[in-house]
Amino acid sequence: MDKLFLVSEINRLRQEKDAIILAHYYQEKEIQDIADFVGDSLELSKKAATADAAIIVFAGVYFMAETAKIINPNKKVLLPDINAGCSLADGCDPLRFKALKEFYPDHVVVTYINSSAEIKALSDWVCTSSNAKKIIEAIPEGKEIIFAPDKNLGMYLKKVTNRDLLLWEGSCVVHEAFSLDKLIEIYNANPTAKIVAHPESERHILETAHYIGSTSGMLNFIRNNSATTFIVATEAGILHQIAKETLQKTIIPAPTYEDNTCACSECAFMKINTLEKLYLCLKNESPEITIEEELRLQAIKPINRMLHLS
Ligand code: 13P
Ligand code: SF4
Repeated sequence: MDKLFLVSEINRLRQEKDAIILAHYYQEKEIQDIADFVGDSLELSKKAATADAAIIVFAGVYFMAETAKIINPNKKVLLPDINAGCSLADGCDPLRFKALKEFYPDHVVVTYINSSAEIKALSDWVCTSSNAKKIIEAIPEGKEIIFAPDKNLGMYLKKVTNRDLLLWEGSCVVHEAFSLDKLIEIYNANPTAKIVAHPESERHILETAHYIGSTSGMLNFIRNNSATTFIVATEAGILHQIAKETLQKTIIPAPTYEDNTCACSECAFMKINTLEKLYLCLKNESPEITIEEELRLQAIKPINRMLHLS
């Protein structure tokens, strides 16, 4: 379908239907440009919590739209492609997780927002990459903690909080794709560059980084740091915001193991959403996220705890 047609129809439909479009930084640039709000996971959850619209179109992945629905049971929440999964959320089986929790009944359970409603319902706290440290630090010393499902974020948290976390063995396929050897090669060719990395990246990548943070955290670091060149270890979608702001900074995507051409890492789950699917979902009000009420009431408790602390 023609892009101009899609843009004008999306604009017409969102007004007509009182819809708000929320998009994650990893979405296609056309989707970021048309969204009412673009943000990281925490900012998007906060926006979903205060959204004053009948319909929320969540241009992101399933767990994000599901979180918006948990927070807004009376709003219609749409996801452009219902198959927009996440290797972290999909790799954490609720039955196995419940068994782990039962094995350690005295542990406090902190769960990364990249997880299903079933996992959230089994948790004491939910966190995102921008508030995970704060949440771990809010748990009294001496309390033992299970952290799931991202082992890389978990190992990073162990280091920065000095707490002994029991980790689930999950990981993000996108952030595990960066090649240390190629990163070092690029850094040696650009020795004044600052390396910034998302904490879902592996430890050897994080050890090279001058700054570690969420997608918004990395963008703010790039905006405010006096360096002019940055090597960025996260999904390539965030480069669009930097390009848009014309900050006169050179951004080099951290290279992946496989790739010798585009040299960047893309999340196939995020990129499954397209402008055309966004238009169709607004037009048809489908696919819609639904959640069973009993599960929602369990899952909202740790999310609210996080939102109150943030
Ligand atoms: P943040 O938006 O919290 O940086 O997380 C990135 C991510 O992997 C989303 O799935
Ligand atoms: Fe999940 Fe990784 Fe994609 Fe984020 S980038 S949605 S953590 S697979």
